[in-house]
Amino acid sequence: MDQVTVLCGRVLSFAHTPFETETPEGAVREYGAVAVHNGQIAALGDRDRLRAIYPAADLVDHGDRVILPGFVDAHVHYPQTGIIASWGKRLIDWLNTYTFPEEMRFGDPAYADEVANRYLDLTTAHGTTTVASYCTIHPESVDALFAAAKARGQRVLAGKTCMDRNAPEGLRDTPQSAYDQSADLIARWHGVDRLTYVITPRFSPTSTPEQLDALGALWAKHPGCLMQTHLSEQTDEIEWVRALFPKASDYLDTYEEHGLLGKGAVFGHAIHLEPREEARLREVDASLVHCPTSNSFIGSGLFEMRALMNAGHRIGLATDTGGGSSFSMLRTMAAAYEVAQLRGSPLHAAELLWLATQGSARALHIDDKVGNIAVGMEADLVVLDLASTPAIAQRSSRAGDLWEAIFPTLMMGDDRAIAEVRIAGRKAL
Ligand code: GUN
Ligand code: ZN
Repeated sequence: MDQVTVLCGRVLSFAHTPFETETPEGAVREYGAVAVHNGQIAALGDRDRLRAIYPAADLVDHGDRVILPGFVDAHVHYPQTGIIASWGKRLIDWLNTYTFPEEMRFGDPAYADEVANRYLDLTTAHGTTTVASYCTIHPESVDALFAAAKARGQRVLAGKTCMDRNAPEGLRDTPQSAYDQSADLIARWHGVDRLTYVITPRFSPTSTPEQLDALGALWAKHPGCLMQTHLSEQTDEIEWVRALFPKASDYLDTYEEHGLLGKGAVFGHAIHLEPREEARLREVDASLVHCPTSNSFIGSGLFEMRALMNAGHRIGLATDTGGGSSFSMLRTMAAAYEVAQLRGSPLHAAELLWLATQGSARALHIDDKVGNIAVGMEADLVVLDLASTPAIAQRSSRAGDLWEAIFPTLMMGDDRAIAEVRIAGRKAL
């Protein structure tokens, strides 16, 4: 039995979904302290009450810092860590110029280990405790990320990225090897500690119908795994899909036709959706992931957050490292806010925080475990300093309420705002 730790501060917990309450802030409850025991949240309450219940607990006093669930980044490519912020290309050229040459290097287990650990160091420093990552076609790249996450006690979701066409020599598998290698990785990693395997066809342009079929069959055999891929990110990409799959009614159909649509399917980007695609995604309760820094950086477009939320979609938020230009979910919330402004419907700070935590956890079907501070949840926590830079401090010091105090950190904060990170209760930063 672990020692109990009581963290004191402004502890925020979602009692509801801020998109569904009368006011967004009405969804959030504030407590003075949270007790952590054996890697889980044991109690929430005011500081004196928790100290009375746990008189022998270690006490960590965070003053007026804000204690939140650790951020959940619902769509990343950890192998693109080294090429983040590469200049001047749009999606297909960006993949060919920067991404594929870098991903080629992950057949080397030593390189994969080095980048996996560097990536988890960087994301932890930015307050992110769970990621859903694409790896490369090399099983070694999956082993590297899962081994690094396991050693850190971290909840991570990941899978081998499968491609058998329109990718360079050395970065292609086959329908059979994609199936066999993914199946072997599922057997070795899925459900081990806090790890989840995600079946990962990169996107329709880089898989033949035969490969999509094979991965659809694999998902049918392992329905407890998630399936992640890309959908309707750029208009050129959609044209390309139309040419490659002339019989498909639309982009989404190229997945559904091969058994790759259902609850547990997680679609990155989903910007330029046809009405039929939207309706079908909603009907099967598939997940969409908004990647706002990436969508601006690669020039993809403006995600329709408010309209899709109102229609009842399951939506998460993500950096899309390294198409995205930041490892920070704070920066990503700022970008989501800006895109929502351009769409004419600003997001409230409570909505942004929910998207970066419980929303992403819900999109990944792990919201019964992480993404909220509630009794019985895993104790992945981030502590925010709301005065981490002079520019932020001078603004938050004149705030009239909690939300006005938090918002400048969401808009202007970076890793300097991350005062502490706990993974399963243990201090990771
Ligand atoms: N579509 C297919 N592969 C990728 C990728 O690696 N990044 C992004 N942003 N879009 C993609
Ligand atoms: Zn992506």
